[in-house]
Amino acid sequence: MTDQMRSTEQIIGRADINDLEAIMAVYNADWDEAMHAVHSNYDTVFTWDYDKGQRPKLDKLYEKAKKAQWNAQTDLPWDTPVDQEAVVVANAVASGGFQHETMDLSHTPLAKWGDKEWLDFGVQSQNWTLSQFMHGEQGALVCTAKIVESVPWIDAKYYASTQVMDEARHVEVFSKYLDDKLSGHYPINSHLRLLLDDIIADSRWDLTYLGMQIMVEGLALAAFGFLHQMTTEPLLKQLLRYVMSDESRHVAFGVLSLQEYYQQLSAAELRERQEFAFEAAVRMRDRFLQQEVWDHMGVDPKAVAPLLLEIPERQMFQTMLFSKIVPNCKKLGLLDAADGWLRTKFTELGVIAFEDWTDTGEEYDSLQATGEVAAAS
Ligand SMILES: [Fe+2]
Ligand SMILES: [Fe+2]
Repeated sequence: MTDQMRSTEQIIGRADINDLEAIMAVYNADWDEAMHAVHSNYDTVFTWDYDKGQRPKLDKLYEKAKKAQWNAQTDLPWDTPVDQEAVVVANAVASGGFQHETMDLSHTPLAKWGDKEWLDFGVQSQNWTLSQFMHGEQGALVCTAKIVESVPWIDAKYYASTQVMDEARHVEVFSKYLDDKLSGHYPINSHLRLLLDDIIADSRWDLTYLGMQIMVEGLALAAFGFLHQMTTEPLLKQLLRYVMSDESRHVAFGVLSLQEYYQQLSAAELRERQEFAFEAAVRMRDRFLQQEVWDHMGVDPKAVAPLLLEIPERQMFQTMLFSKIVPNCKKLGLLDAADGWLRTKFTELGVIAFEDWTDTGEEYDSLQATGEVAAAS
């Protein structure tokens, strides 16, 4: 096992997870790129075992998903007027004011900023956030199509096919919201793109699940939940509620599928999965520095990044994003396998405290029991 273990530097390209210079060096300047091809190298698997319901929990999820379909064009009130600037101000008020009001910015490039710049920053930040959601949803669309091809179980192929449809709808709603209600798209953040590329290029079917259903969608579920609670804009609120009701099913799909598979893996194989989970966690955290927004505002991201890291609300938000991922990794046995390597890494990232929160498998069962999951359908 020793020869296979990789150092932090080999896994994420830098020895110190908080090395800002190295994080900022990963940057996507190509705003005009229209296409991005990733070579993947995996087996497409046919199964001749068509016995439906061999995995009863996946089968139940599939039956549920068929009933929970909704139409992005007709089920949402798209005629709701959205005044983006007013929404930015209202959201800031709702979350206790603009963060900069309580900070000493006198020796920073932001010292000269007035209300106009901060408002513009809020608008750009929203365009960026929703753009990254849209790109992430396309990642989910592509990854789940790959799962349909590569997973060996019929119940999982059936379920994944419904998720492909769900993800198409998610790309559609975020894209429409950006076009109709906001004021500009951002290209995909490079840290997110690196992660999606790694998930798609890997030849092992379970790593698609781990990267997408457990890590990316686990984080999305927490982020959508946070935004759903915070936003004062009724259309976005409803849109997020619909998307979240699908996402909790997707994350449950990942947990249910991998739980069985990971029980039979060796410690060395589990260690590779731990490294992949750690890499994904770091990439997702890195993207929250919003480099592209600062660049758009004419401010060197390197000059403001250290400040951003010190804002307590921001630290809390970033930590909360891991509130689904950590308990789900625990449920899969990934925290403590291979001498607890991932436990150590999640401790370094400051997110281990979530380990005993409810995992999404259980959460999905209890939501179903109360009828919450079907609420959007
Ligand atoms: Fe999605
Ligand atoms: Fe999803």
